[in-house]
Amino acid sequence: MVLAPAYLSDTAPGSGARVAPRAWLRSDAPTLSLDGTWRFRLSPTADLPDDVAEPALDDSGWDSLPVPSHWVLQGDGEYGRPIYTNVQFPFPLDPPHVPDENPTGDYRRTFELAADWPEGARTVLRFDGVESLYRVWLNGVEVGIATGSRLAQEFDVTTLVRPGTNHLAVRVHQWSPASYLEDQDQWWLPGIFREVTLAARPADGLGDVWLRTGWADGAGWIEPEVIAGDAAFPITLRIPALGVETVWTGREQIGRIEVGAVEPWTAESPTLHDATVGSTGETVSLRLGFRTVEIRGDRFLVNGERVVFHGMNRHEAHPVRGRVFDEAHAREDLARMKRFNVNAIRTSHYPPHPRLLDLADELGFWVILECDLETHGFEKNGWRGNPSDDPAWREAYLDRIERTVERDKNHPSIVMWSLGNESGTGANLAAMSAWVHARDASRPVHYEGDYTGEYTDVYSRMYSTVPETEQIGTDGSTAPLLGCTPAQGARQRTKPFLLCEYAHAMGNGPGALDQYEALVDAHPRLHGGFVWEWRDHGILSRTADGTPFYAYGGDFGEVVHDGNFVMDGMILSDDTPTPGLYEFAAVAAPVRFAFDRTGAVTIENRRHSAATDDLRFDWRAEHDGRVVASGVLPVPAIPAGASRRVELPDVPVAADGETWLTVEAVLAAPAAWAPDGHVVASAQLDRTARPLGADAPAAPRITAWRDAEGSTTLGSAVFEGGRLVRLAGRAVGGPRVELFRAPTDNDEGGAFSDPTGSDGAVPGVSNASLWRAHGLDRLVHRLVAIQEAPGALRTRTRVSAADSALSLTVETVWALVGDELELRVEVSPSAGWPTVWPRIGVRFDLPDDGDPIPSAEWFGLGPRESYPDSIRSARLGRYAATVEELSVPYARPQETGHRSAVRELAVGGLTLRTLPDGRGRLPGFVLTRHTPQQLAAAGHPYELPASGTTYLFLDAAQHGLGSRACGPDVWPEFSLRPEARTLRVRFGA
Ligand code: GAL
Repeated sequence: MVLAPAYLSDTAPGSGARVAPRAWLRSDAPTLSLDGTWRFRLSPTADLPDDVAEPALDDSGWDSLPVPSHWVLQGDGEYGRPIYTNVQFPFPLDPPHVPDENPTGDYRRTFELAADWPEGARTVLRFDGVESLYRVWLNGVEVGIATGSRLAQEFDVTTLVRPGTNHLAVRVHQWSPASYLEDQDQWWLPGIFREVTLAARPADGLGDVWLRTGWADGAGWIEPEVIAGDAAFPITLRIPALGVETVWTGREQIGRIEVGAVEPWTAESPTLHDATVGSTGETVSLRLGFRTVEIRGDRFLVNGERVVFHGMNRHEAHPVRGRVFDEAHAREDLARMKRFNVNAIRTSHYPPHPRLLDLADELGFWVILECDLETHGFEKNGWRGNPSDDPAWREAYLDRIERTVERDKNHPSIVMWSLGNESGTGANLAAMSAWVHARDASRPVHYEGDYTGEYTDVYSRMYSTVPETEQIGTDGSTAPLLGCTPAQGARQRTKPFLLCEYAHAMGNGPGALDQYEALVDAHPRLHGGFVWEWRDHGILSRTADGTPFYAYGGDFGEVVHDGNFVMDGMILSDDTPTPGLYEFAAVAAPVRFAFDRTGAVTIENRRHSAATDDLRFDWRAEHDGRVVASGVLPVPAIPAGASRRVELPDVPVAADGETWLTVEAVLAAPAAWAPDGHVVASAQLDRTARPLGADAPAAPRITAWRDAEGSTTLGSAVFEGGRLVRLAGRAVGGPRVELFRAPTDNDEGGAFSDPTGSDGAVPGVSNASLWRAHGLDRLVHRLVAIQEAPGALRTRTRVSAADSALSLTVETVWALVGDELELRVEVSPSAGWPTVWPRIGVRFDLPDDGDPIPSAEWFGLGPRESYPDSIRSARLGRYAATVEELSVPYARPQETGHRSAVRELAVGGLTLRTLPDGRGRLPGFVLTRHTPQQLAAAGHPYELPASGTTYLFLDAAQHGLGSRACGPDVWPEFSLRPEARTLRVRFGA
């Protein structure tokens, strides 16, 4: 054993021939891609001889590995496994040291330098992303060391590179001092995972180019910064479409250029102009967008207009490639965001692949570009030793932010720089901010951890509750703000506010998106936020028998891990949008409809600056979910921020049944991200002659009850001992009262509750653990009475759990009414139930008998699942879905599939219609192959048992969703407190 190399205890960002960062530009100077297959050798420790550097080393026995890739995602475990942690460090907190057990990958390759490689040019070797520390040799000579996994680094190799064959070697250590600065909530994925390039830098080329743009009052300008040697002049800037051609013969001539009238760049109309900057030896091309970012008082403005972020936190994650970039996939991902009314991206928590920002410029997003920095694991230790406040790390912090800003400074989509995430606070963060302010005064600085606002320009928080967020936005409020004295709080209230993270989208959820949106409408200081997060990070894996599944923390035998906390996206690992994303799209819709009693609709354009001339407004009328009339509303283009009142068409109203009018704003022409006809916003108006329930038949009144036993037949229903056994010609069991649902990740969350106590949640205790403690998942039943009357059957049952005195009384009444069979279930709780309830429902068991129920058809809300606090995207209609389609395959099985306010339902030969309860409420349904108890016991979909039964739940009520996996519990209005409920349905007899 020898000691690990000293650089593995060095807080410096790197050493050797590192060159200063510059913009990532498209250039015609020669480059040579060094991606491809490299020789690879993995060692378990870092104390290795430097033989890797020897050109003559015989590496024929080494493996081959693709670059870019993560070695832990190559092969079948022979190069180690991914590790998932959120806050925890997967190694001892012993900064700046790391353990000797430090997987180290040695990479080697040769490359041929063509004879025409420019002579007299400098040559740089560029790495766009390597995790975490790497040491580079060229032709046997050490080039340097670099860190900053998601940051680009160039080395000057001019004196080492030679015509003909060159030998390149790179040693990558998984753990390094830099790992202490990269404690983001994600997989640890070592390796060279972005491109490696050799680039010629001609002496008469362009050292760096920054075309800062601005826009006001219809006109744009450029403030160019060009770094070049004397030999590079004259230098010409050309923007053909704008007729701009400016020639600079010397450095001193480079100054502001007025381009005159020009379309501005916004996230809604991302107008880009092709530009080139050409020196005598090199031409670079850029796509310019003209826009001005500004903070005025507590408003964040672009081109003078307030921006509202309907944003997503976007990690670079792919189930097979990890953080290796795939442009086609990224483009589709961003187009998908646009289709779901997402207008902003926070690049949590590091700079993405540089091409991502080209895509953001082109498709149109407001981007908060975040530096690669997080030291969250120090929090556990009271932030003692946190690098953020330790001078030994100052250089590393500054190096990181410089490389962040310099690489991406040309992008119009970037409207803010973020110093990093969850790194406590301290002088090094303040120094980063000061550096940005000096370097780029045109964009504000964001960092959430600066609670008191000492060095940041906007006030940012994560997961603040609805009441607290409201207090942040309310003028004159003096409610205390997290971590602030009253005076500091007052200062924070002078700034624009944003939620850099909210609406934690883990599993089934989040709830309350609409409540946050309402705050943004009411308080202009609040500028919206960024959902945590865009996608699940599952890694595609297989069980021993070959069943594919998406792995999360713990699935790779990690020593410490954070389970499925990495599965908290608005889309699943395989890109499937979740119902939560549809909810987001409905809440964030840039067009809003408000119906009034006079038969008109007011259409509000909530966009930043674009009018509605790209939209068409379609309408349709439906009788009980069947279209009877449709057309297009005549709507003039509505400017941003304006509203128009439009008369609604006269629609035929059904004499019997429901009449609904649906209006939709759809794309009138294809966009870069969606076809024409794509629905941007929609709303429904109830035009029913009589309100729902007004003509609901009264429950049959039966008085001739007498005790019964044995079997009973009512129409097509057969009962044995009071229990249903057959209905409509098929075996059916039930109805059995169920209060349990398979806990969602939010039901399992316990850390957060509203500090005002308004949500009634117990801090630190999850609802799911209370449900289990009170036995909601294991209710037992005692039939108390069975009675019959002509054409009717009645039972009373006591429902309770082992070792519990709490109970429910359940009365069911079956009665033939004409050619229908009515079921009425009345559930009454005993006094003293202390917790919220997941649901009040009944379960029917539909055994397959070799013929599993394929699907359901219903008239009700749909097409997707909905819950009381996530129902804004649901629309009344007639829908059909297979049983499999009714459930969302969340990475950890949990409650899913509830369809609200169902009117009619057809399942496996059974047909039923529902009747509203005394307060006009309709039940929902869930149709599933598994019971809540089975779902709750499974950690992954593949763990679910084979099923021979389909279960139909009719739910008089369901509890809301909330976002307590990392945020507030369900708002009281949408919480299901124990209460008496009645459920009424009529089966076709
Ligand atoms: C935040 C953090 C994110 C993520 C999230 C929970 O605290 O910034 O990276 O961990 O919580 O999923």
